[in-house]
Amino acid sequence: MSKSPFLLDTKSVSYVIGEGALALSEKRLKKYRRIIILVDENTEKHCLPVFRKHLPDIDINQVVVIKSGEKQKNLDQSIYIWDKLTKQKVARDALFINLGGGVVTDIGGFVASTYKRGVSFINYPTTLLGMADAAIGGKTGIDFEGYKNQVGLFANPVSVVIDPIFLHTLEDIQWQSGFAEVMKYGLIMDRDLWYILAGKNYRDIDEWNNIITRAARDKIDIVQYDALEKGIRKNLNFGHTIGHAIESHYLNRDHPVTHGQAIAAGMICETWISSRIFEMDCTRTQEIVSMIDLNFSKFDLTEDMIPELIDLMRQDKKVREGKLKFSLIRKLGKATHDVEVDFDLIVDSLKYYINRHVTSE
Ligand SMILES: NC(=O)c1ccc[n+]([C@@H]2O[C@H](COP(=O)([O-])OP(=O)(O)OC[C@H]3O[C@@H](n4cnc5c(N)ncnc54)[C@H](O)[C@@H]3O)[C@@H](O)[C@H]2O)c1
Repeated sequence: MSKSPFLLDTKSVSYVIGEGALALSEKRLKKYRRIIILVDENTEKHCLPVFRKHLPDIDINQVVVIKSGEKQKNLDQSIYIWDKLTKQKVARDALFINLGGGVVTDIGGFVASTYKRGVSFINYPTTLLGMADAAIGGKTGIDFEGYKNQVGLFANPVSVVIDPIFLHTLEDIQWQSGFAEVMKYGLIMDRDLWYILAGKNYRDIDEWNNIITRAARDKIDIVQYDALEKGIRKNLNFGHTIGHAIESHYLNRDHPVTHGQAIAAGMICETWISSRIFEMDCTRTQEIVSMIDLNFSKFDLTEDMIPELIDLMRQDKKVREGKLKFSLIRKLGKATHDVEVDFDLIVDSLKYYINRHVTSE
């Protein structure tokens, strides 16, 4: 990858991506008289010092800290943040910075865009998943009543600053989680990216800058074209219909799994469904499933859990007139959306996942 950050000003969002992006964002930050930063307990410890070190001339007026983890992406935490802003009399011309992974950028974007009908915010993602996916595209929101992303809105940050410098402190399991979304771009739209990753375990990859820039550009391309998910953006949901149900299932049992682990399992099921509907080549299907197995362990799901998973899917935002619409892959690097899938086939895909014998993990 080139050593200088990649800059892209779109109609609504300014992107700075790559090594050095953090320092480069200083000019924009100086436009604001008041800056509030949202962090979680881990990004407060690991990322806030990096932020301060590289931007020593930026005054941070208030730091709001939430606990870490998906369980915090909820209404109580939103109220907690709104309350802090209200008590500090934060006005509408302030800047709200989200410094964290997808949980912080999702809830922070939601809180910022609803507080006083919206204050400007900037996302500084600090996880692989945030850099490659969650911080881009203006989907903000919280989980509600056990359902993922049940309440929220589309609201774009003024800027997204993606600097891999934050990744040095990321735990192994979070690298793995982000890797699921990176693989997804290969499968749905970027064959060349898939071939860069193919046959590798995420721990053996050393060209992350390159890969992050590539994945982020893939996402920007899609959301620029279809900001409100009316069409092609739905392709990004590949693996997520079943994946979100699995994620909610474990979250509701107080045994949270990472977003990426759940999506990886969802991608196995949905690759299997794709192969049934589009008659994708058997060898290709096996290659995709093996690549996911190489990076993710199999979940201990059992057939008696299937009805609950199906119930969770019925609450999915992709349900129309009681029917579930999937985003699937027609072939490697080419996805399609709004494919109606019978519940019988969904059940069979889960049985395939549960009963398959995994040789390499
Ligand atoms: N809005 C979107 O378009 C979109 C897309 C994909 C996923 N998401 C959402 O993103 C969330 C998952 O994001 P995530 O995987 O980043 O989870 P996360 O925000 O919970 O971060 C994972 C863990 O890593 C810690 N962490 C973050 N940065 C760190 C760093 N640099 N060093 C050490 N620890 C660090 C966090 O404190 C947390 O414990 C889910 O809620 C998912 O629904 C949103």
